[in-house]
Amino acid sequence: MSEATPSTNLIDEISKLKAERNAVFLVHNYQSKEIQDLGDYVGDSLGLAYQAQSTDADVIVFLGVHFMAETAKILNPNKVVILPDADAGCSLEQACPAPDLEAFLKENEAKNYYVIAYINCSAGVKTLADVIVTSGNAIKIVNKAPKDRPILFVPDQNLGAWVIEQTGREMDLWAGSCYVHVEFTKDSIQKIKNEYPEALVVAHPECTQAVRLLADEVCSTEKMIDFCKNAASDDVIVVTESGMLNRLRKEVPGKNLIPGPTDKCSCADCRYMKMNTLEKLYLCLKNLSPRVEMSPETIEKAKAPMLRMLEQSK
Ligand code: 13P
Ligand code: SF4
Repeated sequence: MSEATPSTNLIDEISKLKAERNAVFLVHNYQSKEIQDLGDYVGDSLGLAYQAQSTDADVIVFLGVHFMAETAKILNPNKVVILPDADAGCSLEQACPAPDLEAFLKENEAKNYYVIAYINCSAGVKTLADVIVTSGNAIKIVNKAPKDRPILFVPDQNLGAWVIEQTGREMDLWAGSCYVHVEFTKDSIQKIKNEYPEALVVAHPECTQAVRLLADEVCSTEKMIDFCKNAASDDVIVVTESGMLNRLRKEVPGKNLIPGPTDKCSCADCRYMKMNTLEKLYLCLKNLSPRVEMSPETIEKAKAPMLRMLEQSK
């Protein structure tokens, strides 16, 4: 098979290579339908971290973005971890470079911050954190944070603000945001609510407060499944990245699931999540590249707050 041309047998070729490599496909909820259909596990960042910790495959193929693949490597340093496109980044990761956080913590050494890092950050930032959170467990973990130290929450100010609202804990927030979720506005969500007056609204906590206030429920992508299944209305407006609708339409077929619109578009795509394609998946399995590599020191340091998270979110 030519490397450049996708053949009609692409899915068969991928399955054959997957078996030869003893690989597992861990897929984030924002991936395209064709990629979700191939997943051994499709879920949110928390579920994917647990899967990465427990897999007995030799190769982990991470179909999400780079920081997620890095997380899998941190939890499984002896396994080969590959991703279809090494440039699949994240605006939250980019908003908080590790050297900037390190300098900030040095300048504010006297405060003795307890650093809580949202999992959407680099391995370098994880090495500087006391504990990691995902949108699925942030409330639980912030509630367990020591009471005698101020908290610094990085890098998502919107998720951080939501956690403050939910827990009543004061936290200093790093000024990062997800470029996709901040595109939903009060106007764009109010407009679609007017079109579907009976609809319930579920939104991701990376949305701004103005949008969260219009939602009936704010939760991680995984928790959106149960919300939609149990919703008292047939119409549900889903305010998050568009790939989520693929998972929801499969698992909640009886409902009318409406993507939250932005001011410019009828739904919101994460350009990083959408960098993964079947062709790149085939090539990365064939070449076992791009591969996630980190120094043993980075892995060791980043692992401690990750394990603390997995322990505390039980
Ligand atoms: P979840 O952990 O809720 O899947 O969110 C990950 C993410 O990247 C949201 O933009
Ligand atoms: Fe990052 Fe936002 Fe894309 Fe999630 S949707 S990966 S937070 S840029």
